[in-house]
Amino acid sequence: MKKIAVLTSGGDAPGMNAAIRAVVLAAQQHQLTIIGFKYGYNGLIDNENIQLGRHNIDGIIQRGGTILKSARCAQMHTTLGLKQAATTLIKEKIDALIVIGGDGSFNGLLALKAYWQGQIIGIPGTIDNDVDGTDHTIGFATAVNTAIDAIDKIRDTANAFERIFIIELMGRHSGHITFNVGVACAAEQVLSFENFSVDSTEETLKQLSTDILHSQKNRHNSYLIVIAENLWPGGATELAKQLKKIANIDITACILGYIQRGGSPVAKDRILATKLGVAAVQAVLEGKTNLMIGEQNAEISFIPLEQAVKHLKCVSPSLVEAQENILAITSNHSKC
Ligand code: F6P
Repeated sequence: MKKIAVLTSGGDAPGMNAAIRAVVLAAQQHQLTIIGFKYGYNGLIDNENIQLGRHNIDGIIQRGGTILKSARCAQMHTTLGLKQAATTLIKEKIDALIVIGGDGSFNGLLALKAYWQGQIIGIPGTIDNDVDGTDHTIGFATAVNTAIDAIDKIRDTANAFERIFIIELMGRHSGHITFNVGVACAAEQVLSFENFSVDSTEETLKQLSTDILHSQKNRHNSYLIVIAENLWPGGATELAKQLKKIANIDITACILGYIQRGGSPVAKDRILATKLGVAAVQAVLEGKTNLMIGEQNAEISFIPLEQAVKHLKCVSPSLVEAQENILAITSNHSKC
């Protein structure tokens, strides 16, 4: 009888609980023992684990965050940390480790291979949607809906005051959230890694100010710029200051921040998480290892972990193109 361990790692994402639930139910269905390590890889290093059963997973499918807690773990970048993690897995007689997280968490799994020979399986869970080999990651759909809801509300104020807003969105170094939310909120401008490079800061400032002034003259209405975090040096606040300085434009900067990571998962994330959790346990039973379980074109996909972490997944070029076609700014910096 196999013994499986599961942990959640990196930024929490709505739907992680649904994935844990599915892993536990599938494991029980096949009479496997299932334990959870707490606090991401830290719990593996310190051997903080709990036996998981039905009582742990009742009523969690609708909850954001993760019942196992999560963390970033610097020790997984050290030989000592990796050896300690392997020691725990050997001591606890774990046959397979399932990690729900993003590419950083999968790199941790890959590094562990040098010290532990059990089965390793990744489930993509991050709001950023930047993991290659799956159409969507768990949490992305909810984060996009949360941001849309918030920006629709900001739009009301922007309309009432005929005000300009710059709204900064999460996504680490990818523009999946920014582009999807920008399109869905009919943002006047979308600035992200896919259509902007720091070399064109001056040019972008000029184009933005020209467009805003033109729009103010003709339309007298709201004007929303959505911008990816980590894109503009100094972020949304600095961009607002620079536009004020060069063109005397009053802009309110708004950083949506962590509300994008929390909240009850939408249907899409609950269902995706459930499918991937069940498929992960199935993969363990079939003796598979070194894989990320994803979903592509509505089919479960089995992607070698090395491949999943090789590149950040690009934002759909057709979405970028569609947005570019309705923007005043023309960009030639597409990286996809
Ligand atoms: O990966 C999820 C994410 O929320 C990113 O969008 C963001 O850049 C990062 O995590 C923030 O990390 P932390 O939780 O360590 O502040």
